[in-house]
Amino acid sequence: MVFAVVLAGGVGSRMGNSDTPKQFLKLGKSPIIVHTVEKFYINPKFEKVIILCPEKWVSHTDNLLRKSMGDTDRIAVINGGVTRNDTLYNALNYIDENYGINDDTIIVTHDAVRPFVTHRIIDENIEAAQKYGACDTVIPATDTIVHSTNGEIIASVPNRSELFQGQTPQSFNAKKLKELYERLTQEEKDVMTDACKIFSIKGEDVHLVDGEVFNIKITYPFDLRVAQTMIEGTMADD
Ligand code: CTP
Repeated sequence: MVFAVVLAGGVGSRMGNSDTPKQFLKLGKSPIIVHTVEKFYINPKFEKVIILCPEKWVSHTDNLLRKSMGDTDRIAVINGGVTRNDTLYNALNYIDENYGINDDTIIVTHDAVRPFVTHRIIDENIEAAQKYGACDTVIPATDTIVHSTNGEIIASVPNRSELFQGQTPQSFNAKKLKELYERLTQEEKDVMTDACKIFSIKGEDVHLVDGEVFNIKITYPFDLRVAQTMIEGTMADD
């Protein structure tokens, strides 16, 4: 079975001091999270789309999505966790408790605040996770990336042709991810901000899927302004 896991458990502190986490801010006619969930919901390969958000937003999110997608059992809204990895782990437990995780269980995990993900990217993630066990969506780095350990002096300037910017989705064989995650020490969990890193530090290959420059993550108010312009452009093309 293939599951979509939409990570919406964050509070969006870099977006400013709003009481509303950024995934619920309006983009065009709908909240950001609705645009994102729709991309997964219409793909028939997903058994279920699991959305994880802060506890006090669960019923609001459930209502919002059902208003847009109808009353369906292909959507489940559940509690996220304190960190992004905790949120991801909650999704794994939900799948395990409700369906059981076996060798063929695939999860396609995606940031709720990347509403411009494409159907091509989603399909290629499913294929790569089934074939290789783990994949990450990336685009080639365009700026030169400078490495500094103290933020004051350059330690090195890595070769740009070997550098990529990570996006989402990140997709995994769920059984393998759960096993690797449960083997991490607390110290490793604290620094493991990226789920693909869990695979790579344990020596497992993570395949690369081509992302898109426009598959942006809405992090700062500026990103939301860019996203509004992009949505207006799409609506003008309709
Ligand atoms: N996320 C999550 N659970 C958490 C933290 C983050 O599901 N405990 C999700 C966010 O909701 C977001 C995605 O991970 O969709 C990417 O994270 P980021 O952009 O850092 O979101 P926030 O943590 O909300 O933002 P900030 O770091 O500015 O507070």
